[in-house]
Parts: sequence; structure tokens; C-alpha cells
Amino acid sequence: MNILILSSEAVPFAKTGGLADVSTSLCVELNRLGHDARLLIPEYCPAIDRSLYTLDRVMSGLKVVLGGHEHICNIEKCRIPGTSQKSHSFVYFVQYGGFFERPGMYSESGIDYWDNPQRFAYLCKTALEWCLAEEWIPDVIHCNDWQTALLPVYLKTHVSYRDNPLLDNVKVLMSIHNLSYQGRFDSWYNPEIEVGPEVFHLHGLEFYGDLNLLKGGIMYADRVSTVSPTYAMEIQTSEFGCGLDGVLQARSEDLSGILNGIDESVWKPSVDKAIAKKYSLHGMNGKKACKKALQEELGLKVDENIPMIGLISRLTYQKGFDLFLSQLDALLSRDVQVVVLGTGDNNLVHWLDDVARRYPSNVAVALRFDEGLSHRILAGSDLFLMPSRFEPCGLTQMYAMKYGTVPVVRATGGLKDSVIDATPTSLEDGTATGFCFERFDGWDMIQALDRALDMYRNDAAQWKKLMKNGMSADFSWSSSAKSYVELYQSMM
Ligand code: ADP
Ligand code: GLC
Repeated sequence: MNILILSSEAVPFAKTGGLADVSTSLCVELNRLGHDARLLIPEYCPAIDRSLYTLDRVMSGLKVVLGGHEHICNIEKCRIPGTSQKSHSFVYFVQYGGFFERPGMYSESGIDYWDNPQRFAYLCKTALEWCLAEEWIPDVIHCNDWQTALLPVYLKTHVSYRDNPLLDNVKVLMSIHNLSYQGRFDSWYNPEIEVGPEVFHLHGLEFYGDLNLLKGGIMYADRVSTVSPTYAMEIQTSEFGCGLDGVLQARSEDLSGILNGIDESVWKPSVDKAIAKKYSLHGMNGKKACKKALQEELGLKVDENIPMIGLISRLTYQKGFDLFLSQLDALLSRDVQVVVLGTGDNNLVHWLDDVARRYPSNVAVALRFDEGLSHRILAGSDLFLMPSRFEPCGLTQMYAMKYGTVPVVRATGGLKDSVIDATPTSLEDGTATGFCFERFDGWDMIQALDRALDMYRNDAAQWKKLMKNGMSADFSWSSSAKSYVELYQSMM
């Protein structure tokens, strides 16, 4: 199958969240399964450091007209680092300075670029124009999140694509990685991105008088998917639907949830160069060295017996940091250490800074994006906390399990689908991998942490079993990629 994956980010080139990890690893896995999968993203500059990668020009002077303005771009490509010379795993880039040469990917100093609708509409149109110019026609175009949601709208309704026999059999899958980001804009943008009255209505991109790009993607794609089975159910309810629950209910026959995989060759303590000492299921001593090194690195009291709780995340409403911070005094009274790595919301940043100042030997906070430190926290911590309000999938809980770090999570979305709560039954049958709490509530979170701390301190054998279950769990892409292939085939 020819599969075009269209995304706004991809590791290791440009990343703000899990979408970047997913785009690249799905592409690699689809190629491994024998498909011609190509990933197309914007060539952000300077975010994509050209001194680190070799980008080859594959097409020059591709003319794309958007909203009456002509923009000329180039297409470049780069082998996905870590893939063999024989494989066909490439990321393709849309190189166009006018839209993508900026200090940020989506925003600068916390303010979104005013022309984000045009920038990403341009990405969608360019994807179609490139396929036509290249004479490489995908069987399926897999779109991801609002930035790519105009593609099915253009493909199905613009005369030049709709009536082009070459594109007759192209199917589109719209994947939702996070329904809380919909690409909602003033309808002033409509002519700029070629959204006319034939699609700007209740059953199209119109949403309370505004333009809603993701809604357009959901309405015009052949199928819709999201990144865990539980989230696929949740988003059809008013609690999680962010105003689009009705729209998603209407498409429920075409909506499915496929749990993300992770790149197990990268998130692997036995080969990880970023951590103090490598370790594996069969030799766990290195994990103790990683904890000591992390305590030293972050200026915490060095003590192997103090339970260390790690958090790595965007600091946003979604991730429940307010819940965590509201319970931090209670948590610290249980003699634990807490390590936080994150960037985001200014209020949370100030709150975290303040806590770290008050408890210097128990709390360490790193307010930056730091890939290496994220590996060291995963390896050095004993527990990994994710108190999310909602979580479409979540990757870090799976990374944590691979490092033998036991997750404590709110039972929502992909967290519910990937962590098996330590109940009497799951402990008895030996399947437990972590601790879950149901309600978004401070008391419930503390109770789950207490269950975890109690086992950590008083039942070493059971704790080891939990660590080992997580480390040996299969979170690889192979089964998720096969589910995508089945979904693509069912569309054709
Ligand atoms: P989301 O996409 O909602 O942010 P995920 O759990 O799917 O959540 O993915 C988050 C990804 O971003 C993970 O790879 C995680 O390790 C990484 N990450 C988040 N914050 C940071 C940070 N400050 N430094 C390094 N990596 C981070
Ligand atoms: C989103 C979600 C996260 C998910 C990621 C990749 O950013 O917030 O839960 O893991 O996309 O699908």
C-alpha cells in the first residue's frame, strides 16, 4: 500500500509532544511491514537543525496557490535516523520560508502565529500537489490532528482534486491525538484558506459561527480514529467531547481507537546512552546507580530508600498538575522525593518553582524541554505519576514501565488501556503493572499513591513483580501498526 502520513511534527526533527514520536515510529513500522509509507511535515527552521541531518532536495519550485496567493516551495527528504540504508523510511519536508522559517513551530513567546490557519492549510494543499507532481498516489492519506484536517475537505470538495481521476480512490483517515486542540478560528479566515459556503455549514466546518478545522476533518474523512479504545468512547460523551461529542457520535460507526505503540529500541534501559548505568530485566543493579546519579544531578538527598516519584509532561490543564500540586504537602509528609520535568503554563511554572525552593532536598524541578533528562528521570525514579484530567493515549507511562518505574495514573483514556491496576485479582494472577485511581480527586490520588508506597516499602517481592511485568509488557508498534493496516485496508 502507498500511505502518506501527514503530520505537523516528527521526532527527531520537530517535537512538542507525543504526536512527534507516534508519526515517526508508525511510519517506520509500516515500512517494515512492506508498505511504501512516507511522512510529510513542515521544514521548520531553525527548529530543524540542518547541521545534524542531511536533507536532500527531491523537488524544486512546486507551485501551490492558496487563497489567491501563489507560494513556491521545495520538497526535501531525510532518512529517518536509526533506520537501515535498505529501508525506505524517509521524512519529507515542505520547505517554504514564508510560513515555516520562524523561531517557533506554532507560537512565539506564548502567542500563536496569527496565520496558523494559512500555514497548515498550505501544508495540506502542498501534500496533495506534491503527490500529483510526483505521480505517487497514496491509497490512504493518514492525517493527524487539526493541522492536517483540511486535507480531506480539499480532497473531497475542491473541483481540482474531487474531479481528478488520479485521486478517485484515495481514502483519508483522520486521527485525533487530542480533541482539546481543534484549530478553531474566526470565520474571517475562510477565504484565506479556501473554505467556501459549500463546506462552511452545520455539517461541515462551521462551529458556533467559527471555523473549526478538526470538525471539518472529522466530517470529510472516510474514517476517524483516535489513540486508545477508551478515549474513542470517552470523546463521544459531553464530559470529554469538547463540544464535538455530537459530531463524533454521528460518526461512531466510522470511529475507532488504536492504542499507540512506543519505539522500544529507543526507550530501552539496556541500550540507553543517556542514563548513568544500563540495566535490563535480567540485571537490575544499574537502576540503583541511575537513582543515585539522578539524586546527585538534581541536588536531592542521596538515599536509595526514599521513594522517588517522577513526572515528565507539558504543564497544562490536561495533565492535572494542579491536582498534584494541591496534594504536594500531603505527599511530602510521606517522606518521598519528587522530580518534575516540564514546560508550559506560567502559573504552574511559578507554583513549581516555589515548591522546589521550599523543599530543596525533596523536590527538584527542571522547567525546560530536555530529552536526556527525561530518560534519566524514567530510569532513576521508582514511581511515575500521571494524574491527567484526560489522556488520549499518553506515552510516558509506557516509557516508565519499560524502565521498571511503576506508574500511578488516573484511569482515563490510554492510561486506563495501558496500566493494569494492582488489585487483589491482578496481583493474584500476576498481571498488575501499576496503580490507578478513577475520579479526578486529590484524595483518590493520594490513596493510589499510598497503595503504591505501602507495597514499595513493605512488599519488595510484589514490587519487583510489578516492575518486571511493566518491563516485559509488549508496547511495541508491531501490533498497533497491524491494526492501522487493517483499518486502511477496510477503507479501500
Ligand atoms: P502529550 O503528547 O500530551 O504531551 P505524551 O505522553 O503522548 O503526551 O507524549 C509526551 C512526550 O513528550 C513524551 O515523549 C515525553 O517524554 C516528552 N516530554 C514532555 N515534556 C518534556 C520535557 N519537558 N522534556 C523532555 N521531554 C518531554
Ligand atoms: C496527544 C495526547 C497524548 C498522546 C499523543 C500521541 O498529544 O495528549 O495522550 O499520547 O497525542 O498520540
